[in-house]
Amino acid sequence: MIRKKVIIDCDPGIDDAFALILALKCEELDILGITTVGGNIQAITSAKNALKILKLMGRLDIPVYMGAEGPLKRKLVTAKEVHGKDGLGNAFLEEAEESLILENATDFILSTLREQEDVSIVALAPLTNLAIAMNKDMDTFNKVKEVVCMGGAFKVPGNCSPVGEFNFWADPHAAQYVLENIKSPFTMVGLDVTSKVKLTPIHRELFRHFNTPISKFLFDSSRFYFDFYWDKKRTIGCLLHDALAMAYFIDNTLCQGFDSYVEVVTEGIAMGKPIADEENFYNKSSNCLVLNEVNADKFFKLFFNKVFGEFRKDYEKFL
Ligand code: RIB
Ligand code: CA
Repeated sequence: MIRKKVIIDCDPGIDDAFALILALKCEELDILGITTVGGNIQAITSAKNALKILKLMGRLDIPVYMGAEGPLKRKLVTAKEVHGKDGLGNAFLEEAEESLILENATDFILSTLREQEDVSIVALAPLTNLAIAMNKDMDTFNKVKEVVCMGGAFKVPGNCSPVGEFNFWADPHAAQYVLENIKSPFTMVGLDVTSKVKLTPIHRELFRHFNTPISKFLFDSSRFYFDFYWDKKRTIGCLLHDALAMAYFIDNTLCQGFDSYVEVVTEGIAMGKPIADEENFYNKSSNCLVLNEVNADKFFKLFFNKVFGEFRKDYEKFL
């Protein structure tokens, strides 16, 4: 089997954690490294959380590189009300040695792209690290095979403003800079599709019954995430934004979309909004595949089969 080489850029983050656990259970992925950035939580806490998840999964062989503390121009705005003070829903996970945190995510991204072929990036956080790496060495960055990015909201409301999705809203300048300069395939896995992938109480009950260290963490961390959605929206369930982006990288039949020229608004009331020229008014070549359809059932089947395959006979009637 040819394994897909990938760097995962993230800000764990409860849904980042779901995405990392999914990726770590996929033998077809060769995870070259994890880079972290200030987003949901401070960059150092993101890095510590990435290590906690690698320790849970027995994969401390995968390097973690800490990246940018905050956005290119805006002040860092974290999302502790969504992800908890520890960034993982205040679910206890054993710490790993902080000395394992390596410096300089952007140098790692560039050196990996320089030395290896067919490396992809799955971006699950504000695009600050990618923009800095691009700015340092554009030609090397554009050797990336593809970027699959959780971000943006095309025809649905934002989650941080009427039109702003957190990753693009938190650092709109980085999102615009990457889209302006990317030469490789870039896929936007936005709220248009991730808002249709909701973890339910049934899923959480299955985690509880599986009673493994991984299922216990997913049960515990998603509790906090459920409470956020109940407090803010009086809905029951939580959205697995980053896990869908990772699942799409693993199996791109999960979603469909359209190629378009996209620019991200960087200032004012619409900051972070991706403007997709779906009708090609500007006659500019496409820089983005904008996803707008998803098979949510297929996502959950993939997630459970990859992460909890040993319990298949127990869960498949519920999915
Ligand atoms: O809007 C959802 C995105 O913002 C996800 O990546 C989530 O982890 C937060 O970073
Ligand atoms: Ca994230």
